[in-house]
Amino acid sequence: MNRDQILKEMGLGPIWKLRQPPKKKRGAESATAPATPVDARTAAIAALGWDELRQAVADCQACALCKTRQQAVLGVGDPDADWLFIGEGPGADEDACGEPFVGKAGKLLDNMLAAIDLKRGARVYIANAVKCRPPDNRTPEPGETAACWPFLARQIELIQPKLIVTLGKPAAQTLLQQEVKIADARGQVHDFAGMPLIVTYHPAYLLRSLLDKARAWEDLCFMRKTMKELR
Ligand code: URA
Repeated sequence: MNRDQILKEMGLGPIWKLRQPPKKKRGAESATAPATPVDARTAAIAALGWDELRQAVADCQACALCKTRQQAVLGVGDPDADWLFIGEGPGADEDACGEPFVGKAGKLLDNMLAAIDLKRGARVYIANAVKCRPPDNRTPEPGETAACWPFLARQIELIQPKLIVTLGKPAAQTLLQQEVKIADARGQVHDFAGMPLIVTYHPAYLLRSLLDKARAWEDLCFMRKTMKELR
């Protein structure tokens, strides 16, 4: 698929200009990690390697989502990725096949990645704020994201991405630990534990909002520019 076809797939017209240069957040030196108490479970997860982490996620019963899942979905991609994309949680397709973003929203995410010359698995890792499907694809509850946080924190620690991109509000709020309005938070470089973080819309939302697809394209250009400046 060439770039024009990708943009067509995203429902975008041909001409979109890059936004203004990144506005670096001032005074954001340290991480604002979600306020999960450092209990024995959190500490144990923080010491796991990839294989053990995968097993711990598969076996997890820390919240009620384990009762309705078919399988937990750890994430997919390059363990040394430069780019870490974080979604909300598995849907029905992901729950069935064990990989994040494989349904319609996943197809759009793949096309968004391709638009900035990225591909899942190649310098890219894709994860979710929660590893088990919330019933009826509802938004994960705060207790569920908190229970799952040690797994995501460990993934971030192991990957050490150059840039984190959150897709949608739950992922942004999980990492930034504050109420987030995507329209306000996008277009800036935030800080997560010393790592740059960019907020954009969730692909499932973009499938329903043509106007924000155009904004998502601006966000993609902004991400690419930010990554270039990091090098
Ligand atoms: N939506 C998400 O947030 N994550 C997935 O893995 C699939 C859909």
